[in-house]
Amino acid sequence: MHTRGNCCCCSFEDYKLTTEWLLNQTSHRPKIAVICGSGLGLLAESVTDKQSFRYQDIPNFPITTVPGHEGRLVFGNIKDKSCVFMQGRFHLYEGYSLCKVTFPVRIFKLMGVETIVVTNASGGLCPDFKVGDIMIIKDHINLPGFAGQHPLCGPNDERFGIRFPCMSDAYSKELRRLALDISTELEYTDFVREGVYCMVSGPNFETIAEARMLQILGSDCVGMSIVPEVTVAKHCGLRVLGLSLITNKVSVDYSREEKVHHDEVLHISKMRAEMMQKLVYTLVSRCHLVLPSINTN
Ligand code: HPA
Repeated sequence: MHTRGNCCCCSFEDYKLTTEWLLNQTSHRPKIAVICGSGLGLLAESVTDKQSFRYQDIPNFPITTVPGHEGRLVFGNIKDKSCVFMQGRFHLYEGYSLCKVTFPVRIFKLMGVETIVVTNASGGLCPDFKVGDIMIIKDHINLPGFAGQHPLCGPNDERFGIRFPCMSDAYSKELRRLALDISTELEYTDFVREGVYCMVSGPNFETIAEARMLQILGSDCVGMSIVPEVTVAKHCGLRVLGLSLITNKVSVDYSREEKVHHDEVLHISKMRAEMMQKLVYTLVSRCHLVLPSINTN
């Protein structure tokens, strides 16, 4: 157990114990993991041969505290493909260390997962974005990481990945292409975009000055999750697709009274959740058809 600074508090044995516990409880051997964001947990409801575990029953697993995040790990098949879904994730603002936030990603890796799809809700910064748009993430800005809140700080465990991983290609080009093609087929093109996601720690929403700064930095949307999980996933060689549902426009104008409420986030997520589910469902059923990216860690 390391406790120095904000470095990893989980040993390889902790990850192994949880992995072995899960492998003993289920015959599923998923190759694809999906992390479901706020109000997006129904993605897991359409699977067959379903098996669920409450986070509190899984050894070493953190427990989620946010309303709208259910807190279950669900195994199941989508068109005969074994998948694992996180219904509810862990956030920095809940007080978890980043090693706890990203704990499940390494469990997925050890279970044999190769591809991870991460979804969340975010605030739109790009002036062209509308509430209800789905943004395919092409890149991110790790703002907490710049301030030293980074999941890979501390001793590097080479069994997961190298000390200085490349992040310039964190989001698989092939999976982004596939997501765009499926969006066209489903006639979603009016509300599917590509862009840059910026992570902030939260829990407060941005001030107007902060929102303007994030725009200047090149962010198209802002949220409080995804980046730690993606960073750890890329470090251990997983293929990543990120989808963010724009649930509100971030206020960048002092003369306008747009305020963000968690209720609003949940309401809009619910409306577009079904469409996002269809996109992910189709993508999961086809993602074996795209060639894996060469891992340039
Ligand atoms: N800012 C940060 N996180 C968010 C927002 C936002 O406006 N909307 C949903 N998650």
